[in-house]
Amino acid sequence: MQISKFMTPEIIFGNQSIAQIGESLRRLGATRVFLVSDSGVVNAGWVERIMQILSQQKLAYHLWTNVTANPKDYEIHAGVAEYRALECDAILGVGGGSAIDAAKAIALLGTNDGSIVDYEGVDKITHPLPPMVMVPTTAGSGSEVSQFSIIVDSARKVKMAIISKSLIPDIAIIDPQTLMTKDRQLTANTGMDVLTHAIESYISLAATPLTEVHSLQAMRLIAKHLRPSVASQYNEEAKQAMAMASLQAGIAFSNAILGAVHAMSHQLGGFLDAPHGEVNAILLPHVLEYNFIAAPEKYRHIAECLGESTAGLSLPESSRLALKAVKELSRDLDCPESLSAIGLVPDQIELLSAHALLDVCMTTNPRDMNAQDVATLFRQAL
Ligand SMILES: [Fe+2]
Repeated sequence: MQISKFMTPEIIFGNQSIAQIGESLRRLGATRVFLVSDSGVVNAGWVERIMQILSQQKLAYHLWTNVTANPKDYEIHAGVAEYRALECDAILGVGGGSAIDAAKAIALLGTNDGSIVDYEGVDKITHPLPPMVMVPTTAGSGSEVSQFSIIVDSARKVKMAIISKSLIPDIAIIDPQTLMTKDRQLTANTGMDVLTHAIESYISLAATPLTEVHSLQAMRLIAKHLRPSVASQYNEEAKQAMAMASLQAGIAFSNAILGAVHAMSHQLGGFLDAPHGEVNAILLPHVLEYNFIAAPEKYRHIAECLGESTAGLSLPESSRLALKAVKELSRDLDCPESLSAIGLVPDQIELLSAHALLDVCMTTNPRDMNAQDVATLFRQAL
């Protein structure tokens, strides 16, 4: 058996858990906190509430919100300059995947020299990072528990995957109530990202028993609760379940890595600034079809977790139900079905396919791919 490793941060989960942000940072030795968030979270009132919590703990803080969806290298460099100038000693990230990935990248450069571009790939970090507490407000990227930070190299228009155990936050605080301020489209997009994390981590070449249990449970929760969560902003049971699904899928993919959906969607995010979850929702059925022969038994488990009845069916019949379940969910949530709808044109496919092959997520895809295979999938999804 090959050596496997499994890591998670300390996890604090539940309604009102954001009240523990202050003491969590204190426990890590923070005195001056660099608070990374985005304008949507500020407008929803969560940042105001968190700043009160920090003040109650007598923690100095500086709010920084100059991050956009698909965070860019120059945004990170500007953030680090402020972090250093203000002599902050801890990072608090509050928001969706973009804010948290940006917070982790700023933490990286807070104690490591050079440009964020220097850290693309696996295990390039050499100095310990400052204390990090992450609070996701979407369900979600899983970045609050993962060893990933995804940042756009603006010169190459490529999303870089930066992977290191040093990027795993010290404490993840997940308060499902924060999901109630998100609109239906964001809830659907981020939910399809969670589904993609659960499925790609489950069929990943690096999956282990410790990751598979989380991947499968995330799928069960998504099958039961993503539709109701999209249907109502105020469905508390659905929000709690989707927060847990996001967390468990995040734990799974942080340790098992992902696959071709993410390798390909990173390119569209970098090149077209396209919304991550939306792109994943479009690509997932096509990549699942391609990967089918690599793991039919696992596809049967996916079908069962997504609510399909497989009793009395042969393996080929039951495993194909995984595809049907994914397509139906995507359709019920009104996810777009073609990449042309988000701006991809055929001329761009060759370049994006070449870049996708170099993405680290491609290394754990269960079926080998060459540039032609990737291009064919992009064309099928057009
Ligand atoms: Fe993702």
